[in-house]
Amino acid sequence: MSEFAGRNVFVAGASSGINLAIAHAFGAAGARVTVLSRSADKIEAAAAGLRDAGVDAQGIACDVRDYAGLEAAFAAARERHGALDVVVSGAAGNFLAPALKVSANAFKTVVDIDLLGTYNVFRASFDHLVKPGASLIAITAGQAVHPMSFQVHACAAKAGVNMVTKCLALEWGPAGVRVNAISPGPIADTEGMKRLADPERESAIKRRLALRDYGTKGDIAEAALYLSSGAAKYVTGTILNVDGGSDLGDASADALSA
Ligand code: NAP
Ligand code: COA
Repeated sequence: MSEFAGRNVFVAGASSGINLAIAHAFGAAGARVTVLSRSADKIEAAAAGLRDAGVDAQGIACDVRDYAGLEAAFAAARERHGALDVVVSGAAGNFLAPALKVSANAFKTVVDIDLLGTYNVFRASFDHLVKPGASLIAITAGQAVHPMSFQVHACAAKAGVNMVTKCLALEWGPAGVRVNAISPGPIADTEGMKRLADPERESAIKRRLALRDYGTKGDIAEAALYLSSGAAKYVTGTILNVDGGSDLGDASADALSA
């Protein structure tokens, strides 16, 4: 039997994309799942999709900028399923824009969703975690460590997400709570890629990647399962790149035939 059978998982930002795939992966492994996002319609559809797949799942509409709303969401998740074994914080917003077109409010909006949102989700979850044993996972991005044009807002926000991950790992490790992050590379069929990558440049983008291809949502879900498994019981404060080598830089030189 899967070690996740009967475990309780909460995924924030899970009405679509990578985070919804993570919710499905835990559900398929036997976990009970709560998914959360802003849109009541979208999150209810996501929860219904999980239930159709045989998962004991509920959807909660809440904005990760609303701390009181998150406190109520975690209380509801605990009431329905019990204390939480896994919390994934992946809500994010992004767009390509040069700094001179990013207003103070636009910058604040992305920082509020990605960075404050991650802190809010983890902070509000603490009293509802299985202790010792809980696994917290932030979904960060390469923007956290690589400065990128047209991404000042996301780079600043995700850099903060990495530090929240490491600081909470330091503080909460003694309580038996592990805190890690996954840094996905370009993941096919996602809103993030629709917004950030020009489809006409797909082959050029892939050529710069050491592994020469986009990742899948399943690649990120597998990493989330690993980080929450017994195999990772001594892993905390880690930023796990699941990125085809993006973090290494430009791999387009044909080194093997040189
Ligand atoms: P996505 O499908 O747009 O997922 C974002 C999710 O966050 C949606 O479910 C959205 O649902 C929710 N959300 C947005 N703002 C929210 C808020 N204020 N409060 C609560 N929920 C909110 O995007 P994705 O491409 O799969 O990205 C998922 C994560 O992976 C993000 O953290 C992103 O930075 C990271 N990532 C993605 C890639 C990639 O290649 N796609 C690469 C690196 C990192 P609602 O609209 O219903 O709120
Ligand atoms: N370029 C520059 N500024 C932009 C922008 C863009 N493409 N899109 C939005 N903004 C600005 C708005 O103009 C506004 O600033 P202003 O008040 O100075 O005009 C500010 O950002 C907030 O916009 P608003 O639409 O009110 O924010 P929101 O909270 O409703 O939505 C976003 C947040 C903007 C991040 C929205 O794109 C979103 O909801 N994204 C979620 C999905 C997503 O991005 N998925 C990919 C994850 S990697």
